[in-house]
Amino acid sequence: MIVQEALLKRKSVRAYLDKEVSKEQIQSILELAKHAPSGVNTQPWKVAVVMGKEKKALEEKLLYAFYHDTPTKRDYQYYPLEWKSPYATRRAACGLQLYQAVGVKKGDKEARLKQWAENFRAFGAPVMLFFYMDDSLQAGSFLDYGMFLQSFMIAATAEGLATCAQGALAEYSDIIKEHLSIPKETILLCGMALGYEDEDASINQYRTPRLTLEEFVTFHE
Ligand SMILES: Cc1cc2nc3c(=O)[nH]c(=O)nc-3n(C[C@H](O)[C@H](O)[C@H](O)COP(=O)(O)O)c2cc1C
Repeated sequence: MIVQEALLKRKSVRAYLDKEVSKEQIQSILELAKHAPSGVNTQPWKVAVVMGKEKKALEEKLLYAFYHDTPTKRDYQYYPLEWKSPYATRRAACGLQLYQAVGVKKGDKEARLKQWAENFRAFGAPVMLFFYMDDSLQAGSFLDYGMFLQSFMIAATAEGLATCAQGALAEYSDIIKEHLSIPKETILLCGMALGYEDEDASINQYRTPRLTLEEFVTFHE
């Protein structure tokens, strides 16, 4: 698959087939993703790959925490505390598209919670990944890490696999670190679902819009 094709094909997939992904497939994706650039070649990425019985055990802990209102613990502030325009509008549109795809009505809090809870089982994907880095690293390493994550998702797409980056999987960083023996002195950035797309699932039927170049680019000649 050529890069252009993979860039256009990648999308966030939130329903997966019950079909295993081999350790060799994951290793070959990571072998490609590790070529991502990073400032002074810091290579800040650390990855925990969770599958099989270990995935089941961890997702049970996360779902228990979610349904028992365990306070969340994030290692960094992902989103603004106060949403400004136009980001507030885009955020609302993003949620609307997702909930409409699965027929969840606006005021149906219970159905929304149930859909959100799907995050904690990586939407049924056979593989759940966690991405973290040493907590001495600074904002530049977040940039580097983003490049690694997109490289990972593009390589996975080329392998015929689907992904969904998941900020939600960084919401209980204490539980996750303890379960996976990840040192406390780290920043858990996000998680990710990896597997084969269930192409018939209604939640996978939509694509998110993008701005036109005129809306976000200025040329200075
Ligand atoms: C770092 C990151 C974290 C995300 N966290 C979540 C998440 O927790 N749950 C979810 O359903 N989607 C999550 N997404 C997916 C975004 O909603 C999605 O990328 C966006 O709506 C654009 O759609 P697309 O990926 O299909 O192009 C995340 C995406 C990124 C890059």
